[in-house]
Amino acid sequence: MVVGVPELGLLLEWQTIKLQLQPICPIEGRSGSHISEQIPLRTLQFQRGLLHELRKGNAMMEQIRLHNLVQQLPQAIIIGVRKGGTRALLEMLNLHPAVVKASQEVHFFDNDPNYAKGIEWYRGKMPFSHPHQITIEKSPAYFITEEVPERIFKMNSSIKLLLIVREPTTRAVSDYTQVLEGKERKNKTYYKFEKLAIDPNTCEVNTKYKAVRTSIYTKHLEKWLKYFPVEQFHVVDGDRLITDPLPELQLVEQFLNLPPRISQFNLYFNATRGFYCLRFNIVFNKCLAGSKGRIHPDVDPSVVTKLRKFFHPFNQKFYQIIGRTFNWP
Ligand code: A3P
Repeated sequence: MVVGVPELGLLLEWQTIKLQLQPICPIEGRSGSHISEQIPLRTLQFQRGLLHELRKGNAMMEQIRLHNLVQQLPQAIIIGVRKGGTRALLEMLNLHPAVVKASQEVHFFDNDPNYAKGIEWYRGKMPFSHPHQITIEKSPAYFITEEVPERIFKMNSSIKLLLIVREPTTRAVSDYTQVLEGKERKNKTYYKFEKLAIDPNTCEVNTKYKAVRTSIYTKHLEKWLKYFPVEQFHVVDGDRLITDPLPELQLVEQFLNLPPRISQFNLYFNATRGFYCLRFNIVFNKCLAGSKGRIHPDVDPSVVTKLRKFFHPFNQKFYQIIGRTFNWP
């Protein structure tokens, strides 16, 4: 992507702000405390140091004011899909200096009691950021919840919407695996995936099973398209985000009109985890939590085939709408 003048401006602005992010605090009682005797209040090892403190509630109102920090409503939302790789996408985008993430899933638009608390409640859940940065939140349930498109539209009709998808059958098994783990944690028993995914009476795919319904992406997307034009969506290939994340992230940078700042340096493959992990700088890196990247149970191949055949026509329609195809069977 060619960096145009506004993006370059953004970069320069960010460099300036990074320099400003070394807060200075005069030590009271020291003789002649003036500018030359000021010492760093806190050594900010990382450019996100202050924001990190703010999120943890450790920073002073003075610091918020000094650095002109604000809580902005999100300019982009990762709307889903559950088990598509939403956490990985959010964390990886947060590597970009102009992106600030809401760490928790806020569930504002899909949860009636939360929604009733109003937009200022929602804003209060957003991290502090510099005005030129963009705030992103992710709540995967948004994609499949009926009321959400209209509610988001009412907040901001030009918001950018990110949807990350995986091959539908794999996603359904991943969804099942998460629920299964929850049951096992409570020492409960649970059905086999095959029993849930296939209707025992008809031997057809059970479309009442939520993990199956969630994977019919086109059905959900069509509901969103009543409010937003397709250009306002960017669909991320969640399977490629696992195997080769950088190109997917670069496409998102373009979609968000951000200068390309996430590089191969920021991502390294961790053989123990079997996934890419994040490198913020030479000392700070992190992998996603162990709950991301679970081992899936073996599924009867005939059930997998049946599901893939079932999803096929929906996938074709989905490709047509979004103008992008994936290597799904
Ligand atoms: P599995 O647990 O089925 O492997 P979500 O964050 O939406 O719940 O998605 C979870 C999925 O993100 C995981 O599904 C995993 O495959 C995928 N993922 C993508 N990139 C990842 C990464 N770098 N580290 C861990 N999981 C990642």
